[in-house]
Amino acid sequence: MYPIRKDFLPLSRPTIGEEEIREVVETLRSGWITTGPKVAAFEERFRRYLDMPHAVAVSSGTAALHVALLGAGVGPGDEVITSSMTFAATANAIVLAGARPVLVDCERITLNIDVAGVNRALTKKTKAIMPVHFAGQPCAMDEIMEIARRRHLLVIEDAAHALGAEYKGRKIGAVGDATIYSFHPIKSITTGEGGMVVLRDGDWADRMRLARFHGIRTSAWERQAGGKSPLYAVELPGLKYTMMDIQAAIGIHQVAKLDDFIARRSMLAQRYRKKFKSIDGVKLLGDVPYAHKHAWHLLVAELDSDRLDIGRDELLELLRASNIGAGVHFPALHMQPYYQKAFGYRPGDFPRAERAAERIFSLPLFPAMTETDVDDVAATVGALVTEHRRF
Ligand SMILES: Cc1ncc(COP(=O)(O)O)c(C=O)c1O
Repeated sequence: MYPIRKDFLPLSRPTIGEEEIREVVETLRSGWITTGPKVAAFEERFRRYLDMPHAVAVSSGTAALHVALLGAGVGPGDEVITSSMTFAATANAIVLAGARPVLVDCERITLNIDVAGVNRALTKKTKAIMPVHFAGQPCAMDEIMEIARRRHLLVIEDAAHALGAEYKGRKIGAVGDATIYSFHPIKSITTGEGGMVVLRDGDWADRMRLARFHGIRTSAWERQAGGKSPLYAVELPGLKYTMMDIQAAIGIHQVAKLDDFIARRSMLAQRYRKKFKSIDGVKLLGDVPYAHKHAWHLLVAELDSDRLDIGRDELLELLRASNIGAGVHFPALHMQPYYQKAFGYRPGDFPRAERAAERIFSLPLFPAMTETDVDDVAATVGALVTEHRRF
């Protein structure tokens, strides 16, 4: 038998304070609820947090990936290298920009993109590399930047998991050519839905601002309330990827709490690590071998299914029955029907991503969790694997 919690512990829960609620209510009452002064203030605070020249707020992390690629001029005939161990959004955005996603395998211990795989995937058509800082741990950026500089490629980092992470003393966001973030409620900070791109290049930022709003330079707020002409020019066939002031009202306060959130996540993760050391049959992901700060977006464990009489999917069901939420981040992208059909990927192409995709599961990790919650999860997982160990 194994312990069952009285109440359900979700995989994740956003931490929203009275400040966020007050700011949203004030925005709702202000007469201006879509893109306007709150979005500008959020961009400015975010930019300052990362100490970067430009921050461009959009409606999601997916939109951030898309406008970053469009603004970089990535399009038909180009190839962009990324990891098979990522969320679909990373590669979908490459396809939506008109380019070809070239997937590579991940590393065994961290599930970050394999640099040797990146080297092997380079062709004359490669335009950009899109590393994904898996679970919040920085990829091997020195090696990736070296490849990019040698081949004149852009590095667009998918830091959906890695806001607040650091690579060798530098914040993720200040390393590559452009970095994208997501503010989905599961992420380090949230705006409900939302995303951001940070970068140094002003012209590229300008093209992203056009791409996010119909190809029009002035926002509706600037034209209606900001003293700019009501007339506008459409400079390119842009999208409608703008963030609302209602969302930014949440983000302004979330960004101020980010370091505290990460400190709390990190403390809980260390407790998980200590507890899981004695669980035979489950291993947590390991550390990258260089100086870094982990953002601890996800707590990912790997089941040693060879030694158990249940698989990962059964374990997830048993966890749910024990009132513990869990997830899978991620099924390998090259195994997805669209990527197999459109780009010819096959089982066996990326063995490390496939192996992980069958064995990994994410456990609850969010700032409002208690140490007792961690102990509950460890006790339940420990009891489950003990009950199902074959030898
Ligand atoms: C690695 C990665 N990239 C991009 C995204 C897309 O972010 P959003 O959900 O904000 O569009 C996600 C979302 O989960 C993600 O995990």
